[in-house]
Amino acid sequence: PRKIIIDTDPGQDDAVAILLALAAPEIDVLGITAVAGNVPVALTAKNVRKVCEVAGCPDVLVFAGCDGPMVQPLVTAEHVHGATGLDGIELPDPTMPLQDGHGVDFIIETIRNEPSGTVTLCPLGPLTNIATAFEKAPDIVERVQEIVLMGGAYFEVGNITPAAEFNIYVDPEAADIVFKSSVKITVMPLDVTHKALVTQARLEPFKSMGHVGDVVIGWMDFFERFDIEKYGSAGGPLHDPTVIAYVIDPDMFKGRFINVEIETKSELTRGMTVADWWGVTDRAPNAMFIGDVDADAFFALLTKNIGTL
Ligand code: BDR
Ligand code: CA
Repeated sequence: PRKIIIDTDPGQDDAVAILLALAAPEIDVLGITAVAGNVPVALTAKNVRKVCEVAGCPDVLVFAGCDGPMVQPLVTAEHVHGATGLDGIELPDPTMPLQDGHGVDFIIETIRNEPSGTVTLCPLGPLTNIATAFEKAPDIVERVQEIVLMGGAYFEVGNITPAAEFNIYVDPEAADIVFKSSVKITVMPLDVTHKALVTQARLEPFKSMGHVGDVVIGWMDFFERFDIEKYGSAGGPLHDPTVIAYVIDPDMFKGRFINVEIETKSELTRGMTVADWWGVTDRAPNAMFIGDVDADAFFALLTKNIGTL
């Protein structure tokens, strides 16, 4: 199986991504690092453990990482995810431990200890932990197999400002470091996640999955209300699980290998992913920017795997 580290800020969609990764036989989750994003890191670190316990995987190594962006103050998204970050269904406080040590050091040590080119990073929140690890231990950069991340937007610009997607907007300096790192990067921007909509029909199979299914439905009902009110779409976009689905089965996605730069200066467009989709510059491509997914295949993969938990 493919070895991954999930770096995350749950978040209901992060939570479903974690369930998918823990369920999929194609994936070996080496550990999960929490980062500040949707809610502060104390809550995201707690939420990760709640999700692992829902999955019946209390042995997963969970670490708390950075408590805020590299330069600017933290911006959170309780307006989307609720005060806990994981509103929608009441879950008990986790009893599994939070590991000692910092999430950034776990990332560094794991990449140093595993054979070079065998660990994939899956960031589902702001890129603070990943960029901090790259700054602190530049030797690990060339050892990373791939980064598959959720963040950014091109045609579907702006869910936190008119120009920026939340994960990149929260820590543009970190994103800039990651996009300039020369690691192989695959990006799941809003352009693709807005095609992975949780319709009522797609939630139907979760109704016969017992506790795990009830939890997913509780999260989705809460999370969805925001996007339906806002975008009037068929259902809320299930952003973060697209990252894990791509690691399992990249063939259901389509994108372009293009140049992507992060705007860090402009007050108006800070955090924008300036994506050269049409190849109008001669800037070197640095990221596989995904634009399309076979949404039915994606939901089939999700239900098949989560149904085994
Ligand atoms: C991203 O922001 C968060 O609110 C979601 O969890 C997702 O990672 C979407 O812009
Ligand atoms: Ca997230």
